[in-house]
Amino acid sequence: MADFDVVIRGGTVATASGVFEGDVGIAGEQVVTVGKNLSKGTREIDARKRIVFPGGVDSHCHIEQPSSTGGVNADTFLSGTRAAICGGTTSVICFAPQFKSTHITTSTADYHARAERGATCDYSFHLIVNRADKETLDALPTLIAQGHRTIKVFMTYPSNRVDDTGLLNLMALARKNQAFMVIHAEHHDMIMWMMEQLTAKGLTEAKHHCWSKPPVVEREAVHRVAAMAELMDQPVQIFHVTCGEAAEEIRRAQARGLKIWGETCTQYLTLTSDDLDKPNGEGAKWVCSPAPRSTEEHDKLWGYIKSGVLDIVSSDHAPSNFGENEGEKLPDGPNTPFTRMPNGVPGLETRLPILFSKGVVEGRIDLETFAAISSRNPARLFGLKNKGDIAPGKDADIAIWDPDVKVTIKQENLHHDVNYTPYEGMTVTGWPTTTLSRGEVLWDDGEFKATPGRGRFLARDPYEFIKPRGIFPGPFNPFE
Ligand code: URP
Ligand code: ZN
Ligand code: ZN
Repeated sequence: MADFDVVIRGGTVATASGVFEGDVGIAGEQVVTVGKNLSKGTREIDARKRIVFPGGVDSHCHIEQPSSTGGVNADTFLSGTRAAICGGTTSVICFAPQFKSTHITTSTADYHARAERGATCDYSFHLIVNRADKETLDALPTLIAQGHRTIKVFMTYPSNRVDDTGLLNLMALARKNQAFMVIHAEHHDMIMWMMEQLTAKGLTEAKHHCWSKPPVVEREAVHRVAAMAELMDQPVQIFHVTCGEAAEEIRRAQARGLKIWGETCTQYLTLTSDDLDKPNGEGAKWVCSPAPRSTEEHDKLWGYIKSGVLDIVSSDHAPSNFGENEGEKLPDGPNTPFTRMPNGVPGLETRLPILFSKGVVEGRIDLETFAAISSRNPARLFGLKNKGDIAPGKDADIAIWDPDVKVTIKQENLHHDVNYTPYEGMTVTGWPTTTLSRGEVLWDDGEFKATPGRGRFLARDPYEFIKPRGIFPGPFNPFE
């Protein structure tokens, strides 16, 4: 009998902690050995001239997420996780949303049912809280104890935002119940005021979305979150940082010793405000929040990635079809004002190939950093203890890459259910050819094969990154 169910043989194994030439031995769902000249496996995968990375962990993606108006975004758990796997990602953290009218326990249970039906890779949830009232605060400790260890707060969007008092109350609750916080940080009132001014002057095209939220809107909110996190001694991650000014606020807070982390996304390393400047409403395809900036800001973000201030690059996959129905990008037709365009771009499948191409192939980062920012760091920050590495005892979640293949990204070749990609026509170097999830080959040589619902919920126990420091900015500890 073979010692291994699968041996991935002769590849360049690249993880956050190092790169070596060798084999990976898998038994059942786990990696059991990493070494040279392993004995034969029941299945042998030839990885010569390939890079063997840990499967990507995308800690920020909106999949089959119902909206407050009753619609659901364009990907189901089946199509969203299919796209993930075909792009080398093997774990996703999505968002169980709460609405003004729903109890958070009910909406979380509904969201679990959706994932159980369709998910083909493993998944965990951030809980979106949009009303920090007594009913919600009473329900959260049970949900957290069930393994939903992150609370997500939007500081903007009229139907989702939580005010500063609500945010402080949620930080206090998170601290007491060992939960982490993730924040969409933009100054709501500034954006609303700018939207009114722009609308009054008839400046309502997609490109004006960027005008309504310049970097200062983001910088101020990041500064405010950092101050609140300092007051409450609560660990936080700032989502989708788009510009040097916001990243600099995070760096300053980290230098003060705060447990604060920053994420950026593929789109903020590649798209610019010029992409939104297209006629007949087409610019809506690139409307996302915060807004895409400029190539100068891309360079600054790479700098903050290299210095470790921003240590995760996710997709913020938020798919709405480019169409004219309610919930789609142009609900009022080609003249839809930007204020009515749903925010968000699809990017689960393209996240890793773009990051590899722009990052590793173009010489901005090395293989270890790629593995860290796309897999190890999100697994660690969010307590996915069996993910993010290729090492004995870890889940055999692995993506085998052809690092030399040139691919021109085209909608027709992608596996999501959204009807466009914001990266149409972009040529990248490198793409995953084979993806394994818990030892099972799900994507191989252009073929996707997985049973809907095989993905498992990753309940998260308390972990190191959640722990507060026990340091307050004044003499009073409000938690004693
Ligand atoms: O524009 C975006 N990012 N839409 C998705 C929701 C969010 O803000 O993350
Ligand atoms: Zn957001
Ligand atoms: Zn998001």
